[in-house]
Amino acid sequence: MIGAKIGAGREADVHAWGDDTVVKLYRPGFGGHRAEALALTKLDGHGVAPRLIDVVDCDGRIGLVLERLGGQDMLTLLQRQPWRVLGLARALATAHLAVHAIRVPEGLPDLRERLAAHIDDAALPPPLRDFAVRVLHELPDGDHVCHGDYHPGNVLVTADRVNVIDWVGATRGVPEADHARTLLLLRRADPLPGTPLLSRALMATGRSVFTHGYTRAYTANTPRPLHQVDKWLIVHTAARLSEGIDIERPTLIDLLDRARHRAVR
Ligand SMILES: Nc1ncnc2c1ncn2[C@@H]1O[C@H](COP(=O)(O)OP(=O)(O)O)[C@@H](O)[C@H]1O
Ligand SMILES: [Mg+2]
Repeated sequence: MIGAKIGAGREADVHAWGDDTVVKLYRPGFGGHRAEALALTKLDGHGVAPRLIDVVDCDGRIGLVLERLGGQDMLTLLQRQPWRVLGLARALATAHLAVHAIRVPEGLPDLRERLAAHIDDAALPPPLRDFAVRVLHELPDGDHVCHGDYHPGNVLVTADRVNVIDWVGATRGVPEADHARTLLLLRRADPLPGTPLLSRALMATGRSVFTHGYTRAYTANTPRPLHQVDKWLIVHTAARLSEGIDIERPTLIDLLDRARHRAVR
């Protein structure tokens, strides 16, 4: 039986479901449950994500029944315990590296194809679109798990571990691509519809302190050298514009414009 609501985001509401599980009920019209169910199946046994128990239909809404994880999401924690900013930034990096250590030869969508589609949808001025597409062409494929929307609102923190949720955008690619997307979100994301806390929580704790802490810990502990993070940032900046967050648009366009001018100099 559906229990109390314990969370909500852009695509779904999450309710208690029995004692040990939750149900993530997608809003009508969102098809993300298929992508998320596939990703969770691939991640089963790796200890980074909740287990997928079942897929149910609740009055016409599709629900994923998931293992219920303890702890609080990191955004809430940053607001409530801002003095933990550096420890939490390091924990965010450590869990991200654990995700990137998982390799999936097949089954998840290809990150570069996904990014190409987003750039296409972004309604960019043609010179900027062409620039982003050119940069994307030079970047490599990979077979590591990439989360696609990895930020403090999508991790749950307990005393001894960090679990990652919200796998709708999971793909396979190179880790630095997924790292770059997180850098973009930490530096630039304005309140996301359904996740209004991102900017406010990060501002309260010192956005740049948190971002530097995450970056330093990720860079210091990655088992492989990071290539072309700046190029991945350009591509993600273009792709982000497909998400239609109006308030971010001028800044993102300006970033792209400047990157393009640097590239042709
Ligand atoms: N497996 C889980 N166990 C406990 N809480 C969860 C679980 N999955 C999601 N939640 C709660 O629901 C909220 C929204 O979940 P999320 O998967 O991020 O959905 P959305 O795609 O709508 O952002 C989370 O912030 C968290 O509070
Ligand atoms: Mg979420």
